[in-house]
Amino acid sequence: MARGKFITLEGIDGAGKTTHLAWLRERLEHKVGPTGHAVVMTREPGGTPLGEALRNILLHESMDLETEALLMFAARREHLAQVIEPALARGDWVLSDRFTDATFAYQGGGRGLPRDKLEALERWVQGGFQPDLTVLFDVPPETASARRGAAREPDRFESESDAFFTRTRAEYLRRAEEAPYRFAIVDSTQSIEEIRRQLDEIVTAL
Ligand code: TYD
Repeated sequence: MARGKFITLEGIDGAGKTTHLAWLRERLEHKVGPTGHAVVMTREPGGTPLGEALRNILLHESMDLETEALLMFAARREHLAQVIEPALARGDWVLSDRFTDATFAYQGGGRGLPRDKLEALERWVQGGFQPDLTVLFDVPPETASARRGAAREPDRFESESDAFFTRTRAEYLRRAEEAPYRFAIVDSTQSIEEIRRQLDEIVTAL
């Protein structure tokens, strides 16, 4: 049986990832459903009971930067073992709201953790495993912070400065340049309709 595909969505906070998630899931279900397989929707940090407990800690408790990176990867290991790998082996497709590129972008780019440490953790936790497709919603930090607005109490990441998100965005773009075969960069300043049109094209190609 063919393995399913693994799709991840990335972008800085306020890039519009959440707006497009539900729509994309429906489009995928429409395409994958007739083959008898499911679309499993999940997120990071999180995706398992342990991962969700770690998410709560990661988003709200202050901690050492290296602890933060290690917990992200600990949650990821559990997520891969319990959810992602079994689903792909069954032939289901997996759509994840963030994955390893977020750790490079936020803990690496944003917070400044040396890249070689993250690369070592990436190898440990996932070997050579990478998403089949990563959609990067790209937007200038000022646009993203205006969109985040003051709608709700910001978590430890959402409350970061534009300078932090400038570094985060740059690291996302560097990762995309390094692995163009799996990245699709979507200019997230465009209209919702135009972005949907592009997303449809991207997943149809996959
Ligand atoms: P996010 O995906 O934006 O969810 P919500 O829309 O519910 O706020 O929140 C997750 C936060 O975690 C986001 O600010 C980025 C951060 N994060 C990291 O710093 N490193 C990581 O490896 C991951 C997966 C997320």
